[in-house]
Formats: sequence, structure tokens, C-alpha cells
Amino acid sequence: MIRAIDWNKRWMEAMENSSLRRCRENMTAFWNRRARRYNEAVKRNNRSMEMISKLDIDPAYTVLDIGAGPGTLTIPLAKRVKHVTVVEPSSGMLVCLKENARSEGLKNITCINKRWEDIVPGVDLDEHDLVIASYSLAMLDMKEALSKMNRVARRSVYLFDFAGGRMKGYSELWPRLYGEEFRARPDYIYLYNILYEMGIYANVEISKTEFKERFSSLNEAIEEWKENLGVSTPEAEEVIRTYLSANLVEEDGAFYLKNEIKSAMIWWKKTDG
Ligand SMILES: C[S@@+](CC[C@H](N)C(=O)[O-])C[C@H]1O[C@@H](n2cnc3c(N)ncnc32)[C@H](O)[C@@H]1O
Repeated sequence: MIRAIDWNKRWMEAMENSSLRRCRENMTAFWNRRARRYNEAVKRNNRSMEMISKLDIDPAYTVLDIGAGPGTLTIPLAKRVKHVTVVEPSSGMLVCLKENARSEGLKNITCINKRWEDIVPGVDLDEHDLVIASYSLAMLDMKEALSKMNRVARRSVYLFDFAGGRMKGYSELWPRLYGEEFRARPDYIYLYNILYEMGIYANVEISKTEFKERFSSLNEAIEEWKENLGVSTPEAEEVIRTYLSANLVEEDGAFYLKNEIKSAMIWWKKTDG
């Protein structure tokens, strides 16, 4: 019965039908615009250290970080391992990552400005001890993406993704803005099942985290959410203003939107079979 489900096909359908994919046609342009703010948010929270503490690392290792963003994991990892290679399609994210590396005096990072789909193993990069993709699993053909990760990993692969719905505000606002239900993008369970179909019986750990978005004012929050939701009309702005006014929490002169989310770490060792 399990075999009757083609999880990669389900992944592709869920990706293509996801509400945010439809309003963010060009993901790289979206991340270019968001890079600075994302970089600031990463610097404010300590999720990188928690994530790194779960990895089996050694100072002699080489690491490949796919969709590294501003270097959320790359920067702390580069202080602990021999070398980190970054694959990142957003040039805006790479500017932040290189600034972060420079200010930490790190010289053991190589950046490749490409999508993972466009990487040719043996041409663009060779094997790495560890391969990591953290909240960057936006590839359409996930089976192909995962098998390429497995191919270039010498020891282990670590994936981080959401478990279940993370977009409380989106599912509430989307019907009011677009007149239809919000369709979230596929989460970790698809990845786990695609790996199973590939004969990779991975480990999974689910953890709970408080997701906190910080804004300096209500207007900044509104602008950000208009961009996130792909809307610009005065009517849409009013809908967002009403939602944010009711949900933002003021603390120490700033405004926070708080949400409890669940994340999954999926990992496997090449030696596991
Ligand atoms: C949410 S950020 C995650 C950044 C970082 N890994 C972290 O954990 O904070 C997603 C990143 O994945 C990158 N990304 C999106 N699609 C990608 C693809 N097809 N190949 C490689 N990276 C991709 C984006 O450019 C963006 O920088």
C-alpha cells in the first residue's frame, strides 16, 4: 500500500499548488529583497547554536551548506571545521554571508552562486564530509535534489525543515485577501517518505521552538507582511493592519509576532546502509 504513493510526485504537486509559490514567482528575487532583514533576524536569535550542537562534527571535516542564506550555520560551522562550501542562488544573501565571514576573520568558506539543481558534482564541487540543507528545501524535483546530496556526502546528510503548519497568520489572512484557503508548502514528512522510497531509512527529531518576528513599528510590520503575502492594495493593507494590530506584542520598545512552531531534523549516515 505504501508503495502506491509516489511521494516525489506528491511533493511536486504540493510545491506547485502552494499559495506562497504562486505569489512569489521568482524565489531568488524574493530572497534578495529579504536578505538584510533575514540576516538581522538570524543575528538576534540563537537557533544556529542549538542546531549545530546536534551535528556530529570534527575539526578535520569539510561541510557543504546548501541554501546557506546569510550564513546562519556556515559562520559558526566555519569556526569549528576545516572548510565550508556554500551553494546559494541569492546574491543578496551571499553579500551578507561574505560580510559576516569578513567580520569574524573567516577565510575557509567558498561560495557558489547557484541553485542546487544547477550544481554538477565533480564539476562545481566534490564530496564533503557533511551535507546540510537548513530551511532551504525549495527544489521542485526533491528526489533528484536528495539523491545528489546523498551522492556528494562522504559521511552524513542533515536536513532541517518545518513539521506541520507554521503560518498561523497566513492561514488566517489568505482567505480574506485571496478568497481561498491557504495551501502550505509540503513539510518534512514528504522528505522522510521520499528518502524511504530511495532506500534511505533516516532518523528524525522533532523539536518545538518559539518563532519571533521583530519589527520596530506597526508600519514596518505591515510593509513586511504586504511583501510576504504579495499584496499592495489599500484594502489588503487594511486587512493586514487589523490582523497585526490585534496580534503584535510590544516589548522593550519593539513589536513582536510570536508563534510556536515545530521543526524536524532529518539525518542519515552513509554507513547506515
Ligand atoms: C529560509 S532561508 C534559510 C537560510 C539558512 N539555511 C538558515 O537556516 O537560516 C532559504 C535559503 O534557501 C535558498 N534557496 C532557495 N532555493 C534554493 C535552491 N533551489 N538551491 C539552493 N538554495 C536555495 C534561498 O536563496 C535562501 O537563502
